[in-house]
Amino acid sequence: MKILFVCLGNICRSPTVEGVARQLAEREAAHLQLSFDSAGTAGYHIGATPDPRSRHAAAARGYDISRLRARQLQPGDFRRFDLLLAMDEDNLRDMRAMAPPGLQDRAQLFLSYAPAVGLRAVPDPYYGGPEGFETVLDLAEHGSRALFVAVAAIIAGRR
Ligand code: 4NP
Repeated sequence: MKILFVCLGNICRSPTVEGVARQLAEREAAHLQLSFDSAGTAGYHIGATPDPRSRHAAAARGYDISRLRARQLQPGDFRRFDLLLAMDEDNLRDMRAMAPPGLQDRAQLFLSYAPAVGLRAVPDPYYGGPEGFETVLDLAEHGSRALFVAVAAIIAGRR
């Protein structure tokens, strides 16, 4: 299963979730054979590395996201990925607006797979302080683990 994480700029939230999910999946859910990528609904930062605040906060928890580069979401991503997971409601609306006919339901909120977290959105840390980047990491870790459980159930249901 191929999973794409989507935020606005693809320099803070979605690359953090991509890096965390990839590393946790290798360690804890390798049997699911998941692959991950991320993109932004906006094109402001195409080609940029993740925001240094995201890189440093991730590195402090042992996640290396320094080799990721921002790209913009394309309609073709709806064919290439099984699930396109939005960080917030604005992302979800913009994603569904560009989905090819019949593929809108591939776009969902990332945290809809982690109902126990009690949040619908991963708050945008870009204009805030350092604690916002820690919250993104907390939600990336909880959300990824909940996603693995949900995906395992989806895969089991297909058999
Ligand atoms: P992200 O954060 O969507 O989590 O990557 C943002 C990055 C850049 C901007 C806004 C949010 N910006 O306005 O440039």
